[in-house]
Amino acid sequence: MEIYLDNAAGTKIDNEVLNKINETYKQFYGNPSSLHSLGEKSLDYLNLQKEKISKILNCKSSELIFTSTGTESINLAIKGFINNQKKHIITSAIEHPAVLESCKFLENFGFKTSILSVNNEGLIDLEKLKSAITKDTALVSIQYANNEIGTIQDIKEISKICKDHNVLFHTDACQVVGYEDINVKNLNIDLMSLNGNKIYGPHIGLLFVKEGIKLEPLIHGGGQQKGLRSGTEDLPLIAGFALALEKAGESKNQEVNKLTRLRDKLVKDLLKIDGTYLIGPKNRLCNNASIVFKDLSSDSLILSLSDHKFYVSSGAACASRTKKPSHVLNAIKLNKKDIESSIRFTLSKYTTEKEIEKAIEIIQKVVNNLRK
Ligand SMILES: Cc1ncc(COP(=O)(O)O)c(C=O)c1O
Repeated sequence: MEIYLDNAAGTKIDNEVLNKINETYKQFYGNPSSLHSLGEKSLDYLNLQKEKISKILNCKSSELIFTSTGTESINLAIKGFINNQKKHIITSAIEHPAVLESCKFLENFGFKTSILSVNNEGLIDLEKLKSAITKDTALVSIQYANNEIGTIQDIKEISKICKDHNVLFHTDACQVVGYEDINVKNLNIDLMSLNGNKIYGPHIGLLFVKEGIKLEPLIHGGGQQKGLRSGTEDLPLIAGFALALEKAGESKNQEVNKLTRLRDKLVKDLLKIDGTYLIGPKNRLCNNASIVFKDLSSDSLILSLSDHKFYVSSGAACASRTKKPSHVLNAIKLNKKDIESSIRFTLSKYTTEKEIEKAIEIIQKVVNNLRK
């Protein structure tokens, strides 16, 4: 039995979504920018997908920009301010590197970044956010939920503070689709980054850009997507992404209940193992559990579990091979030794009770062996 609990890093594609992508490749090969009827057929289909997505996000179709990945969406949302008059950005210490590195890049162009610290649950202090805002603040970029420890920020309150201070607000919502509200009107958000491969969809990114916000493009060319992201729209992936978003919304409540129950069972049994404790917030993403296995190296654990076809990560998967200690676990002030002994388990809609039971059995065995 294969047990895949690394879904924050990437999910297995949904079969219906995969079929939709295949069908779109077969049927809509015309370029949506071409004048002939095949091009028009593709353009109509593209507009249909945009309408579907805009209904889900509660925005206008014209406010959607498709990109290659979540990383590109975030880069556009932040570096897009390069020519802005105001040159101060506020973010948090536990953002994805796409946010932190984009802010760093803008510092070469006269920007200043304020990086808000977080408490041991990964939450920013809203009072600190208020006092960090200056007359020069162009943008606040705070992630909706953290990919390593599952902290969910108070997005409504953050957006209210930004509105009260007349500052734009971007959120990296890559980890929350299917679990939290992504209605941009409810949340009062100006810019929101999403991606497809966390929701059983294709590798594609999306940036919601509220009407009236002017960004500089990162990619120049034929002027597609209002000149903000040139390049022929990837219609098959867009259609797959629209379906994945739709499916995530339809099954939201049911999934949250199921994942919470299975995740809680996993945590309860893992904490019975000597020298383990849960890191991060009390109120976390329903599919996330981050656990320290004292005095064991997370690399040895990951590789030993992998020998049993049981797949997990330590911290963020994209950082796992860099051997750098997790900046997120550092920011919540976990000691260095425990950072190196932490494992992230992230469940998916495919996770079964049987798999969780087997997972617990395997971990108990592997931990006992490594501790011998
Ligand atoms: C919170 C968060 N933001 C951004 C990204 C980057 O997304 P992508 O891998 O699509 O570039 C990820 C992916 O791991 C993520 O978890």
